[in-house]
Amino acid sequence: MSEKEHRVSRRQFLNYTLTGVGGFMAAGIIMPMARFALDPILEKEAGTEKVAVAQVKDITTEPKRFDYKVKQVDGWHKSDEPKSAWVFKNESGDIIALSPICKHLGCTVNWNANKDHPNQFYCPCHGGRYEKDGTNIPGTPPLAPLDVYESQIKDGTLYLGKAKPRGGAK
Ligand code: FES
Repeated sequence: MSEKEHRVSRRQFLNYTLTGVGGFMAAGIIMPMARFALDPILEKEAGTEKVAVAQVKDITTEPKRFDYKVKQVDGWHKSDEPKSAWVFKNESGDIIALSPICKHLGCTVNWNANKDHPNQFYCPCHGGRYEKDGTNIPGTPPLAPLDVYESQIKDGTLYLGKAKPRGGAK
């Protein structure tokens, strides 16, 4: 090859330089926009992982309310959402964690809160009632049992995930 073939003309030099600088600037603009658009999709879905809620030693056969928080991501807004669960051991010794959300219109149910209906979950809004295992009592407004949290026990700690409907309405 001759020396002449290796020489870059002024026009070629400008073309290469402007293409490189233009590409660099375009990447600087496009990359943040792409990340902004894709971040919520790529981020692990919040609320899917289980959260430590209680020590197993604190759980008895009497339903007890435990309050906790889960990380909530709504678009680009992150927050700690307060949650509650009614937790107890059933006759077999299994730990049951019930959602406190009434299946009628979403009020919060309480355990043993109505002296006329002891040992039941009671909803103060319209008098909804549930058995200890969360089954709705026929003749009261709720038409489905209380949801049950996905649960896991690890190193003496109870972890709860999402509350799942059980179906089997009375
Ligand atoms: S919201 Fe609970 S009975 Fe209506």
